[in-house]
Amino acid sequence: MELFAYLIPYGLEWLNLIVRWLHVITGIAWIGASFYFVWLDNSIRPPAPGSELAKKGVSGELWAVHGGGFYNPQKYLVAPAELPKELHWFKWEAYSTWLSGIALLTIAYYFNAQAMMIDKSVADISSLQAIGIGVGTLVVGWTVYDLLCRSPLGKHDLWFGIVVFALIVAAAYGLTHVLSGRAAYIHVGALIGTIMVGNVLMLIIPGQRKMVEAMSAGRMPDPVHGQKAKQRSVHNNYFTLPVLFIMISNHYAMTYRHDHAWLVLAFIMAAGVFIRHFFNLRHKGRVEWRYPAIGVALLAAVAVAIAPARPVAVAPAADPAAEFARVKAIIAHRCASCHAERPTQAGFAAAPLGVMLENDAEIHQNAEKIYKQTVQLKAMPLANLTQMTDAERAQIAAWYEAGAK
Ligand code: HEC
Repeated sequence: MELFAYLIPYGLEWLNLIVRWLHVITGIAWIGASFYFVWLDNSIRPPAPGSELAKKGVSGELWAVHGGGFYNPQKYLVAPAELPKELHWFKWEAYSTWLSGIALLTIAYYFNAQAMMIDKSVADISSLQAIGIGVGTLVVGWTVYDLLCRSPLGKHDLWFGIVVFALIVAAAYGLTHVLSGRAAYIHVGALIGTIMVGNVLMLIIPGQRKMVEAMSAGRMPDPVHGQKAKQRSVHNNYFTLPVLFIMISNHYAMTYRHDHAWLVLAFIMAAGVFIRHFFNLRHKGRVEWRYPAIGVALLAAVAVAIAPARPVAVAPAADPAAEFARVKAIIAHRCASCHAERPTQAGFAAAPLGVMLENDAEIHQNAEKIYKQTVQLKAMPLANLTQMTDAERAQIAAWYEAGAK
């Protein structure tokens, strides 16, 4: 029994490592290919009217040099006169990113929902409820998005974008009011990722398949499939930067632990959209600096708005030894269940990030980190699982600001 209790969390840690590695690799392959094709689409130039290429049905081409060779991609409007023998599809990059992402979500969050998803100061819910909210968000979110795309609103790119952005922010608002900030963020990211993969699986690939089928049957493909796929592809393009931020957001407790974490996320996502827009225009030869300027301004505004309060000057403690003893007791009580060589907290096989807080030397060595995580960011204890009080945080603040003796 004891062996299992030890092996399972350790085994899960390795599974986490492998699946996360895979997720990053497939994600790079997918987003990389997506960036490349968007760039290609925006950079191709039409051939001279009446030229051989134009007669073949080529609507645009470009020349590039890479890795010691010259490349000359050509885009056919609707389709070439006859179907090539070998045709490359790009879909497994997207599918494997989603599959590994869901696996990682399950390993990192659903298997340890108590520590990773629930924050009792936000909502006192059960693990099952937390997981239900997470999964439900993905299903409902995709359904609403897909219906909106098919509605008349789907035809107005700008308005559609604004409405979808508002709905995603609303989801962030709702999630940050039921889950821990960290789990709320990752579910907004999973929702956007699910929409992106749904677009590939349900619209883009089936549309392309219909085009290929029509051509195999000797018919001219209906351009409507291409247009529908293009619409979804444009949406995916603007989702990329926001979703990538969310995927790394769990390193930045200052964002997801904030009282208005949903608003922080809204600003950062908007910055990503503006910056992406700049690159889309730039590929087409239009350089509009106001877009990245807006993006940077939004990020700067967030940085200022969420800056932690400056420490107040504290008189040195009359008895530093007694003060340290109090701090040590707090840490033993609130932190050591996880931050120990052999954690007692369920689901933890080793000290998180190698941070151990079991003796005087370890506490002194990590004083700055302890202050940052418990006072400035309030990121620790994780989801306040061990229910640290504000008075205890103040005690740590006083100790650290007086020199962490
Ligand atoms: C329920 C388990 C748990 C408890 C209790 C807990 N932590 Fe953590 N701690 C973690 C995890 C998990 C991480 C890694 C977080 C990550 O990957 O972003 C971590 C990371 C840290 C880090 C390193 C942060 C960094 O990015 O370098 C510090 C410092 C820390 N915790 C301090 C504390 C202190 C101080 C307490 C008590 C007030 C505490 N923790 C309580 C689980 C816990």
